[in-house]
Amino acid sequence: LRDLGIGLVGTGFMGRAHVFGYVTAARAFRLPVSFRLEMVADATEALAEDARAVLGFSRATADWRALVEDPAVDVVDITAPNALHHEIAMAAVAAGKHVYCEKPLAPTHREAQEMADAAERAGVVTQVGFNYLANPIISLAREMIAGGELGEVTTYRGIHAEDYMADPATPASFRTEPVGGGVLADLGSHALATAEFLLGPIAGVMGHCRTLIPERPGPGGAPVPVAVDDVTHAFLRFSSGAVGTIEANWCATGRTMQHDFELYGPKGGITFTQERLNELHVFKAEGPRARRGFRKIEAGPSHPPYGRFCPAPGHQLGFNDLKAVEIANYARAIAGETPEPFGFRAGARIQGLVEAIRRSSDEGAWVNTETL
Ligand SMILES: NC(=O)c1ccc[n+]([C@@H]2O[C@H](COP(=O)([O-])OP(=O)(O)OC[C@H]3O[C@@H](n4cnc5c(N)ncnc54)[C@H](O)[C@@H]3O)[C@@H](O)[C@H]2O)c1
Repeated sequence: LRDLGIGLVGTGFMGRAHVFGYVTAARAFRLPVSFRLEMVADATEALAEDARAVLGFSRATADWRALVEDPAVDVVDITAPNALHHEIAMAAVAAGKHVYCEKPLAPTHREAQEMADAAERAGVVTQVGFNYLANPIISLAREMIAGGELGEVTTYRGIHAEDYMADPATPASFRTEPVGGGVLADLGSHALATAEFLLGPIAGVMGHCRTLIPERPGPGGAPVPVAVDDVTHAFLRFSSGAVGTIEANWCATGRTMQHDFELYGPKGGITFTQERLNELHVFKAEGPRARRGFRKIEAGPSHPPYGRFCPAPGHQLGFNDLKAVEIANYARAIAGETPEPFGFRAGARIQGLVEAIRRSSDEGAWVNTETL
C-alpha cells in the first residue's frame, strides 16, 4: 500500500469537505494507496493551527510554499481562493507533486492550459473538483443515454442556481474578483462539466452574462464596484447534434443547491435535481398512454459505488460522500490503475467554455468551441 502525504492549502468549506473525503474514502473503499494528513496551510498561523488540530493534520503552516516544497507531501490539494490556484499548482507541479485542485481550475483559460501542459510534462496526476460527476445516479443517467434508452438525445436544460449572493449586502469576495470571478466560473463551470459528462462535447455557445448587483461592501465595509456576472444564460450546440441551455445564477433567492438537468430523446426523458441527489426521474415512452409517467429511481447498492457506503437502498449519499468517491477515483489514478478521471486538461476545457460564453455575450454572436 503506497502511503500518500496530503498537503492541504485552504481550510474553509472545501478544505473540510476534502478532509472528510480522504477519511471516508480510505474506509469505504479498498484503495491501492493510503492517505496521511501530513500538512495544512492557511492564510495565517492561527487558521492553519486551528485546522491542524480539528482536522487531524500532523503539521501546520501559514506559508503554502513551505508545504509545496515539503518532502513528506506527495499530493498538494488546493482549496484556496481561485486567484491562487495557478501559482500554487505550478509550484507544486515543479516540485513533482500530484495536484488536486478545486474548480474553477484557474482564473483564465490560458493559465488553466499552462497548468495542464506543465502537469503533463511532469507526469504528475491531477484532479479538478467537479464532484457532482462522482454521483452514481448521474453515472446511471449517462449509461442510459449512451445505451440509447431514450433514443438520440435531442434537447438538454442544465442549471446551477443558488442564492448565496442574492443579498446586495453580501460582501465582495474572491468570487467577485474581476478576473476569474463571476457566477459562470463559480457555478456555471459545474453545469458545463455535467452537460459534457452526459452528452459529450459542446461544439458552440451563445451566452448572455449579466451583473445584477453592481456594488457590494468591500473589505472595510465601503461599497466597491463589482463587474462580474451574477446570472448567465447560454445556448449550447453539442457535437452530437443535441441542442440545449444552461443557467448559472447565484441570486436565485430561495435556491440552495439547484444543480439540475433535464434531457429528452424520442423514446424518453430524464430529470435530476441535486437537491434530491439520490433520485433520477425517468420517463419511457412505452406502454399504454394512460399508464405512462415519470418514475423515480432511488440510488442503492445496484448503483456502484453506493453499496460501499451503505447496503440499503434509499438511505442516501450526501455531498461529502461525493468527495469521497472523487478522491477514491483519484487515488486509483495516482496508483496507475485507471486514467485521470477529470484532470487539469479536462478542467482547462471547462475554463475555455466559460471564456467562450463570456466572449459570445460581449460580441453578441455564437462562438465555436470545437477546437478548445
Ligand atoms: N466543488 C465544489 O462543489 C465547490 C464548492 C465550494 C467551493 N469550491 C471551490 O473551492 C475553493 C475554495 O472555496 P471555499 O468555498 O472553500 O472558500 P472558503 O473561503 O470557505 O475557503 C478558502 C480558504 O482558503 C484560505 N486562504 C486564503 N488565502 C490563503 C493563502 N494565501 N494561503 C492559504 N490559504 C488561504 C482561507 O483562509 C480559507 O480557509 C474555490 O476555488 C471554490 O470555487 C468548490
